[in-house]
Amino acid sequence: MPIALIVLAAGQGTRMNSDLPKVMHPLGGAPLFAHSIFFGQALEPERVVLVTGHGGEQVAQAAVELGFEVDFCVQKEQLGTGHAVAQAAPALAGFSGDAVVLYGDTPFISAQTLQAMRDARNNHDVVVLGFDAADPGRYGRLILNGERLDKIVEFKDAEAEERLVTLCNSGVVMANAAQLFDLVNSVGNDNASGEYYLTDIVEIANARGLSCTVVRCDEAETLGINTRAELAAAETIFQNSMRKSALEIGVTLSAPETVFFSHDTTLGRDVHVEQNVVFAPGVTVETGAKIRAFSHLEGCHVSAGAIVGPYARLRPGAEIGNDARVGNFVEIKNATLGEGAKANHLTYIGDATVGDRTNIGAGTVTCNYNGVEKFRTEIGADAFIGSDTMLVAPVKIGAEAMTASGSVITKDVPEAALALGRAEQVTKPGAGRRLFDMYKLAKANRQRKT
Ligand code: UD1
Ligand code: MG
Repeated sequence: MPIALIVLAAGQGTRMNSDLPKVMHPLGGAPLFAHSIFFGQALEPERVVLVTGHGGEQVAQAAVELGFEVDFCVQKEQLGTGHAVAQAAPALAGFSGDAVVLYGDTPFISAQTLQAMRDARNNHDVVVLGFDAADPGRYGRLILNGERLDKIVEFKDAEAEERLVTLCNSGVVMANAAQLFDLVNSVGNDNASGEYYLTDIVEIANARGLSCTVVRCDEAETLGINTRAELAAAETIFQNSMRKSALEIGVTLSAPETVFFSHDTTLGRDVHVEQNVVFAPGVTVETGAKIRAFSHLEGCHVSAGAIVGPYARLRPGAEIGNDARVGNFVEIKNATLGEGAKANHLTYIGDATVGDRTNIGAGTVTCNYNGVEKFRTEIGADAFIGSDTMLVAPVKIGAEAMTASGSVITKDVPEAALALGRAEQVTKPGAGRRLFDMYKLAKANRQRKT
């Protein structure tokens, strides 16, 4: 059965107290709404529809940047969850399959839970995801009749007796798409909030002889984000689950609670991550590589056996070859470090290729930017770049070539050549001592006067 996701992301999120739309706030390096699409992907949806409102353009742009193939629809006025779902109808016209309604601010629903809902759809028309709440608060209450779901009552509209029910509505609903739209179109707004409640579809469905049921999940999965404090708590939950799965797949974390992951961090078996490492989005580390303490990685790839850090910074486009070394205070951006190559200390390598086994001396800088444009530096294999070499791009250094320490290299260096680009040394015998004596005398004279 083909599946469509309908992700509700139109709410303003007033309690975030932010100019940014709530669903754009980051969790694990991705905007909140993206997490609903990530877990929704477990159902291999044929279509994804994002219902946007506040800051819709920003949400749409982020979705495109993340590579999602989604349809957007705009809910101009937030008239309720039922009204929000109805906005997705034109985008799904002609779609024959099931629709799942997800919230863009509820990032932890699991793939198993969605699968259980899909299974329940074999025997029921409308499947609602519920949970037993420790503190039911203002959640909608699920009113059962045996295993059948009779209706959902919003807290505001609930009788005292209904408020005692602890089985609550998560908001996730699954039904045949055409039937779902048909049901939401019949929902009215005669209730305590004056809103079109998605939850009303249950009573309407029952009245039409359709069958409704509940699938239960853990309360933790239904955690929704409304405030910055909830966002921070969600980040902790997210990080802990990433740490747990890293350990499970055979990654060593010297101090798990100090390592921070992004939603897409990929670490191979026997990778070792030391203390205080941050993985921003887009990082892959292959098996057996070591990321040493206090390193920051983003948009980069570290091959097997490489050692990065301590105190290294890998920026987008850094490709670290097998068994290569990136040492302390080294920054690499949009550059490839070949197999076994080394950049061990205090170096900036940007817009460059460094050949296999080449050694980059301390203090080397690829001068890639003239203030207007960026240029590339290409260094061949087995080369030796002396300490404190300035490589003024565009420039090419051939294989097995050498640059002398302190050189400013502005012209290409052919294979196996030695390039010296520094002032010639002048040595004056005895002049050092004479200068010392002169300086000491000057200091003593000054002190006498005061
Ligand atoms: C909703 C449910 C409630 C459930 C709770 C779980 C309804 C009527 N109530 O209540 O039963 O227990 O979620 O958290 O469905 N949204 C839009 N457009 C709108 C209104 C909402 O896109 O016009 C989006 C929001 O951005 C949010 C989601 O829908 O992502 C839920 O809306 P919210 O206002 O938080 O509903 P609740 O009152 O919490
Ligand atoms: Mg809510």
